[in-house]
Amino acid sequence: MGVLERHWIMGWIIFLFLLPIIHGWGKDGHYATCKIAENFLTGEALAAVKALLPAEAEGDLAAVCSWADEIRYKAHYRWSSTLHYADTPDFRCNYNYCRDCHDTVGRKDRCVTGAINNYTMQLMSEHDDSGLYAVSYNLTEALMFLSHFIGDVHQPLHVGFLGDEGGNSITVRWYRRKTNLHHVWDNMIIESALKTFYDKDLTAMIQAIQSNITDAFVDEASQENCKSTVCPDPYASESIKLACKFAYRNATPGITLGGLKIIGSSCYAYDYFYSRWPVVESRLAKGGVRLATLLNRIFSEHKSIAEE
Ligand SMILES: *[C@@H]1O[C@H](CO)[C@@H](O)[C@H](O)[C@H]1NC(C)=O
Ligand SMILES: *[C@@H]1O[C@H](CO)[C@@H](O)[C@H](O)[C@H]1NC(C)=O
Ligand SMILES: *[C@@H]1O[C@H](CO)[C@@H](O)[C@H](O)[C@H]1NC(C)=O
Ligand SMILES: [Zn+2]
Repeated sequence: MGVLERHWIMGWIIFLFLLPIIHGWGKDGHYATCKIAENFLTGEALAAVKALLPAEAEGDLAAVCSWADEIRYKAHYRWSSTLHYADTPDFRCNYNYCRDCHDTVGRKDRCVTGAINNYTMQLMSEHDDSGLYAVSYNLTEALMFLSHFIGDVHQPLHVGFLGDEGGNSITVRWYRRKTNLHHVWDNMIIESALKTFYDKDLTAMIQAIQSNITDAFVDEASQENCKSTVCPDPYASESIKLACKFAYRNATPGITLGGLKIIGSSCYAYDYFYSRWPVVESRLAKGGVRLATLLNRIFSEHKSIAEE
C-alpha cells in the first residue's frame, strides 16, 4: 500500500471518528421523523413541499432532513449552529422562552424554538398578499431548517443544561465505545435499537413506529393549547422534563450506560438502553406527527388564498 493511499485511509478513519460530533438527532433520527411526517401530509401540503424541495431530494423530504446539520459548520452558515438547541440553567427541569432562548452571546430568539417560529413565519409569508416578505427569504431553506428543527426540539437533550452543553461534555461509555451523553441520545440508542430489534433495517424500524401510531396518539400529539400556527414551547418543555427524568438520570460522568455492567448488586447500566428506547421511539413519533400537522397548517392557508 502506497503512502498516499495510507494517508487517504487515515484521513477517512479520522473523518469517521469526527463524524458523530457534527450530527443533531443523528441522521437516522431526522430521517425517521421526516418519513413519519410524510405519511400524515395532506395532498396540498405534500404538493407544496415537493415544489419547494431542492432537486437532490428527488421529491423526498426525508432526504434533506439532515441538511441543517451538514451545513452548520460551514463558514457561510455558522450563524445557524445555535439554532439547533436551547439550554436551561443547570439542574432546572423546566424551559422558559424568555430565559432560555438566546445564543451564547445573549442574542434573543437564537435557539431552536425561536428558529421554529422564524421559519414557520417565512413559509407562511409566502401567502402574504403584501409581498413584503416573499422576496427576502429562501423558502427551500426555510422548509429544510423547519423540518430539521422540529426533529431537534424533540430530542430531549437538545433542551438540556447549559453547564454540560446538553450532555455533550458528559463522557460516558456505550457498550465498549467512549462517547458522550448527548451523542448517546442523538445516535447510539437508535443504533442499538436498529441492531437489537430490526436487523439494522431503518425502514423496518420506521414502519414499526408508524404502525404503532394510533388516531388517539395523533390527536394528543397535535392538539396542544396552540392558538397560532406553531407553538414549539410545549415541545421544548416536554424535552427538558424527559432529559431530567430519563437522559441525565444515572448518567454520571465516566459511567458505562450500555452493556452488562454490574455495579454492586444492581445492573441499571444495562437497563439504560431498554428503558430509554421507548422514550426515543415516542419522541420520533411525536416529532413526525407534529411536523406533518404544522406543514398541513402552513400549506392549507395557501389553498384558501388560492381559491379566493
Ligand atoms: C431567521 O431566518 C433567517 C434566514 O435563514 C436567518 O438569517 C435568521 O438568523 C433567522 N433567525 C432566527 C432567530 O432563527
Ligand atoms: C435556496 O437555497 C438552496 C439550498 O441552500 C439553494 O440551492 C438555492 O440556490 C437557493 N435559492 C436561491 C434563489 O438563492
Ligand atoms: C408501541 O407503543 C407502546 C405503547 O405506547 C410502546 O410501549 C412500544 O414501545 C411502541 N412500539 C413501537 C415499535 O413504537
Ligand atoms: Zn440539529
